[in-house]
Amino acid sequence: MRCPKPMPEDVSLRLLPEDWLGPLDLAGEWEQDGPRILDLGCGKGRFLLAHAARNPDARLLGVERKLRRIRKIDSKACRAGLRNIRILRMEAMYTLNHLMPENWIDICFVYFPDPWPKEKHHKNRIFGPEFLDSLDRVLSETGVVHFATDNRNYFEEVAEVLQSDSRWRPAEVYIPCEDEVSDFELVWRDTRPTNRLSFQRG
Ligand SMILES: C[S@@+](CC[C@H](N)C(=O)[O-])C[C@H]1O[C@@H](n2cnc3c(N)ncnc32)[C@H](O)[C@@H]1O
Repeated sequence: MRCPKPMPEDVSLRLLPEDWLGPLDLAGEWEQDGPRILDLGCGKGRFLLAHAARNPDARLLGVERKLRRIRKIDSKACRAGLRNIRILRMEAMYTLNHLMPENWIDICFVYFPDPWPKEKHHKNRIFGPEFLDSLDRVLSETGVVHFATDNRNYFEEVAEVLQSDSRWRPAEVYIPCEDEVSDFELVWRDTRPTNRLSFQRG
Protein backbone atom coordinates (compact mmCIF):
# COMPACT_ATOMS: atom_id res chain seq x y z
CA MET A 1 0.00 0.00 0.00
CA ARG A 2 1.30 3.49 -0.88
CA CYS A 3 1.91 5.98 1.88
CA PRO A 4 -0.63 8.79 1.99
CA LYS A 5 0.58 12.16 0.68
CA PRO A 6 2.19 14.18 3.46
CA MET A 7 -0.06 16.84 4.99
CA PRO A 8 0.76 20.47 4.09
CA GLU A 9 2.72 22.03 6.92
CA ASP A 10 0.06 24.57 7.74
CA VAL A 11 -2.52 21.88 8.47
CA SER A 12 -2.37 21.23 12.19
CA LEU A 13 -3.39 17.79 13.33
CA ARG A 14 -6.09 18.17 15.90
CA LEU A 15 -6.31 14.51 16.83
CA LEU A 16 -3.77 12.18 18.28
CA PRO A 17 -3.43 8.91 16.33
CA GLU A 18 -5.27 6.98 19.04
CA ASP A 19 -8.30 9.26 18.55
CA TRP A 20 -8.75 8.55 14.85
CA LEU A 21 -11.51 6.07 15.43
CA GLY A 22 -12.93 7.90 18.44
CA PRO A 23 -16.30 9.63 18.69
CA LEU A 24 -16.91 12.90 16.86
CA ASP A 25 -16.52 16.16 18.70
CA LEU A 26 -20.25 16.74 18.46
CA ALA A 27 -20.38 19.22 21.30
CA GLY A 28 -18.55 21.82 19.21
CA GLU A 29 -21.19 21.72 16.46
CA TRP A 30 -23.81 23.89 18.14
CA GLU A 31 -23.88 27.39 19.52
CA GLN A 32 -26.59 26.38 21.98
CA ASP A 33 -26.08 24.68 25.32
CA GLY A 34 -29.54 23.18 25.62
CA PRO A 35 -30.75 19.58 25.69
CA ARG A 36 -29.30 17.19 23.13
CA ILE A 37 -31.97 15.52 21.07
CA LEU A 38 -31.50 12.69 18.60
CA ASP A 39 -34.00 11.73 15.88
CA LEU A 40 -32.95 8.31 14.59
CA GLY A 41 -34.18 7.53 11.08
CA CYS A 42 -35.60 11.03 10.75
CA GLY A 43 -36.91 10.43 7.21
CA LYS A 44 -37.93 13.65 5.45
CA GLY A 45 -37.66 15.53 8.72
CA ARG A 46 -41.14 16.92 9.37
CA PHE A 47 -40.86 16.07 13.07
CA LEU A 48 -37.21 17.09 13.37
CA LEU A 49 -37.76 20.50 11.80
CA ALA A 50 -40.92 21.36 13.74
CA HIS A 51 -39.40 20.17 17.01
CA ALA A 52 -36.29 22.27 16.35
CA ALA A 53 -38.41 25.34 15.62
CA ARG A 54 -40.38 24.82 18.84
CA ASN A 55 -37.22 24.31 20.93
CA PRO A 56 -34.69 26.91 19.74
CA ASP A 57 -32.42 26.31 22.73
CA ALA A 58 -32.15 22.58 22.13
CA ARG A 59 -29.56 20.88 19.93
CA LEU A 60 -31.09 18.44 17.48
CA LEU A 61 -29.29 15.78 15.50
CA GLY A 62 -31.16 13.94 12.74
CA VAL A 63 -29.71 10.65 11.48
CA GLU A 64 -30.92 9.21 8.20
CA ARG A 65 -29.30 6.96 5.64
CA LYS A 66 -31.16 8.08 2.49
CA LEU A 67 -29.49 10.98 0.73
CA ARG A 68 -32.63 12.31 -0.98
CA ARG A 69 -34.33 12.63 2.40
CA ILE A 70 -31.29 14.40 3.83
CA ARG A 71 -31.40 16.87 0.94
CA LYS A 72 -35.07 17.60 1.59
CA ILE A 73 -34.40 18.33 5.25
CA ASP A 74 -31.45 20.50 4.32
CA SER A 75 -33.45 22.74 2.00
CA LYS A 76 -36.38 23.01 4.42
CA ALA A 77 -34.04 23.84 7.31
CA CYS A 78 -32.38 26.56 5.24
CA ARG A 79 -35.75 28.05 4.29
CA ALA A 80 -36.82 28.01 7.93
CA GLY A 81 -33.51 29.58 9.01
CA LEU A 82 -32.97 26.92 11.68
CA ARG A 83 -29.65 27.16 13.52
CA ASN A 84 -30.10 24.37 16.04
CA ILE A 85 -30.12 21.24 13.89
CA ARG A 86 -27.45 19.02 12.39
CA ILE A 87 -28.13 16.17 9.98
CA LEU A 88 -25.95 13.15 9.60
CA ARG A 89 -26.25 10.86 6.57
CA MET A 90 -25.32 7.74 8.42
CA GLU A 91 -26.44 4.31 9.48
CA ALA A 92 -28.13 4.51 12.88
CA MET A 93 -26.22 1.75 14.72
CA TYR A 94 -22.89 2.96 13.38
CA THR A 95 -23.71 6.43 14.64
CA LEU A 96 -24.58 5.18 18.10
CA ASN A 97 -21.68 2.78 18.42
CA HIS A 98 -18.84 4.68 16.76
CA LEU A 99 -19.57 8.38 16.42
CA MET A 100 -21.48 9.39 19.49
CA PRO A 101 -19.84 10.22 22.80
CA GLU A 102 -20.98 8.32 25.89
CA ASN A 103 -23.86 9.69 28.00
CA TRP A 104 -24.46 12.41 25.47
CA ILE A 105 -28.12 12.27 24.43
CA ASP A 106 -30.90 13.61 26.64
CA ILE A 107 -33.82 12.64 24.44
CA CYS A 108 -33.95 10.13 21.61
CA PHE A 109 -36.87 9.83 19.20
CA VAL A 110 -37.30 6.64 17.22
CA TYR A 111 -40.41 7.38 15.21
CA PHE A 112 -41.78 4.71 12.91
CA PRO A 113 -38.61 2.69 12.41
CA ASP A 114 -38.88 0.25 9.49
CA PRO A 115 -41.26 -2.46 10.80
CA TRP A 116 -40.06 -5.42 8.73
CA PRO A 117 -43.54 -6.98 8.94
CA LYS A 118 -42.71 -10.51 7.73
CA GLU A 119 -41.70 -12.73 10.61
CA LYS A 120 -38.57 -13.98 8.88
CA HIS A 121 -37.42 -10.33 8.66
CA HIS A 122 -38.08 -9.38 12.30
CA LYS A 123 -34.39 -9.87 12.97
CA ASN A 124 -33.76 -6.70 10.91
CA ARG A 125 -35.78 -4.50 13.26
CA ILE A 126 -33.59 -1.94 14.95
CA PHE A 127 -35.01 -2.52 18.45
CA GLY A 128 -33.15 -5.46 19.84
CA PRO A 129 -30.62 -6.21 22.59
CA GLU A 130 -27.74 -4.56 20.70
CA PHE A 131 -29.75 -1.37 20.13
CA LEU A 132 -30.66 -1.17 23.81
CA ASP A 133 -27.00 -1.63 24.77
CA SER A 134 -26.09 1.22 22.41
CA LEU A 135 -28.81 3.47 23.83
CA ASP A 136 -27.62 2.66 27.33
CA ARG A 137 -24.17 3.89 26.31
CA VAL A 138 -25.14 7.14 24.60
CA LEU A 139 -28.01 8.31 26.81
CA SER A 140 -27.39 10.68 29.68
CA GLU A 141 -28.23 9.48 33.19
CA THR A 142 -31.81 10.71 32.86
CA GLY A 143 -32.02 10.10 29.12
CA VAL A 144 -35.43 9.28 27.64
CA VAL A 145 -36.41 7.38 24.50
CA HIS A 146 -39.69 7.99 22.67
CA PHE A 147 -40.76 5.23 20.31
CA ALA A 148 -43.76 5.23 17.97
CA THR A 149 -44.93 2.66 15.47
CA ASP A 150 -48.07 1.71 13.58
CA ASN A 151 -47.10 -1.95 13.73
CA ARG A 152 -48.80 -3.52 16.75
CA ASN A 153 -46.62 -6.61 16.73
CA TYR A 154 -43.45 -4.49 16.75
CA PHE A 155 -44.87 -2.36 19.56
CA GLU A 156 -45.63 -5.42 21.71
CA GLU A 157 -42.23 -6.90 21.02
CA VAL A 158 -40.47 -3.71 22.18
CA ALA A 159 -42.70 -3.43 25.28
CA GLU A 160 -41.84 -7.03 26.20
CA VAL A 161 -38.10 -6.57 25.72
CA LEU A 162 -38.17 -3.43 27.89
CA GLN A 163 -40.11 -5.14 30.67
CA SER A 164 -37.46 -7.81 30.99
CA ASP A 165 -34.53 -5.34 30.99
CA SER A 166 -33.92 -3.81 34.42
CA ARG A 167 -31.92 -0.88 32.98
CA TRP A 168 -35.15 0.81 31.84
CA ARG A 169 -38.33 2.16 33.39
CA PRO A 170 -41.43 3.67 31.80
CA ALA A 171 -41.42 7.42 31.12
CA GLU A 172 -44.09 9.94 30.23
CA VAL A 173 -45.17 9.47 26.64
CA TYR A 174 -44.49 12.40 24.31
CA ILE A 175 -47.48 13.39 22.17
CA PRO A 176 -46.36 15.53 19.23
CA CYS A 177 -48.23 18.73 18.44
CA GLU A 178 -49.99 18.79 15.07
CA ASP A 179 -47.09 20.49 13.27
CA GLU A 180 -44.68 17.91 14.70
CA VAL A 181 -46.58 14.88 13.40
CA SER A 182 -43.97 13.01 11.38
CA ASP A 183 -44.16 12.55 7.61
CA PHE A 184 -44.88 8.86 8.02
CA GLU A 185 -47.57 9.31 10.65
CA LEU A 186 -49.25 12.04 8.63
CA VAL A 187 -49.73 9.69 5.69
CA TRP A 188 -50.93 6.63 7.60
CA ARG A 189 -52.57 7.75 10.83
CA ASP A 190 -56.16 7.63 9.50
CA THR A 191 -55.91 3.96 8.63
CA ARG A 192 -53.27 2.65 11.04
CA PRO A 193 -53.38 3.74 14.69
CA THR A 194 -50.14 4.92 16.25
CA ASN A 195 -48.72 3.08 19.27
CA ARG A 196 -46.44 5.12 21.52
CA LEU A 197 -44.13 4.08 24.27
CA SER A 198 -41.46 5.99 26.22
CA PHE A 199 -38.80 4.76 28.60
CA GLN A 200 -35.81 6.07 30.46
CA ARG A 201 -32.71 4.88 32.23
CA GLY A 202 -32.83 4.01 35.86
C1 LIG B 1 -40.67 4.48 8.00
S1 LIG B 1 -39.51 5.75 7.84
C2 LIG B 1 -39.94 6.88 9.17
C3 LIG B 1 -39.28 8.23 9.01
C4 LIG B 1 -39.61 9.26 10.08
N1 LIG B 1 -39.10 8.88 11.38
C5 LIG B 1 -41.10 9.49 10.14
O1 LIG B 1 -41.73 9.11 11.15
O2 LIG B 1 -41.64 10.05 9.16
C6 LIG B 1 -38.00 5.04 8.48
C7 LIG B 1 -36.78 5.85 8.12
O3 LIG B 1 -35.65 5.31 8.76
C8 LIG B 1 -34.58 5.28 7.83
N2 LIG B 1 -33.72 4.16 8.27
C9 LIG B 1 -34.05 2.86 8.32
N3 LIG B 1 -33.04 2.13 8.81
C10 LIG B 1 -32.04 3.01 9.07
C11 LIG B 1 -30.73 2.87 9.58
N4 LIG B 1 -30.26 1.65 9.93
N5 LIG B 1 -29.97 3.96 9.72
C12 LIG B 1 -30.45 5.19 9.37
N6 LIG B 1 -31.68 5.39 8.87
C13 LIG B 1 -32.47 4.31 8.72
C14 LIG B 1 -35.22 5.04 6.49
O4 LIG B 1 -34.41 5.46 5.42
C15 LIG B 1 -36.48 5.87 6.63
O5 LIG B 1 -36.28 7.20 6.22
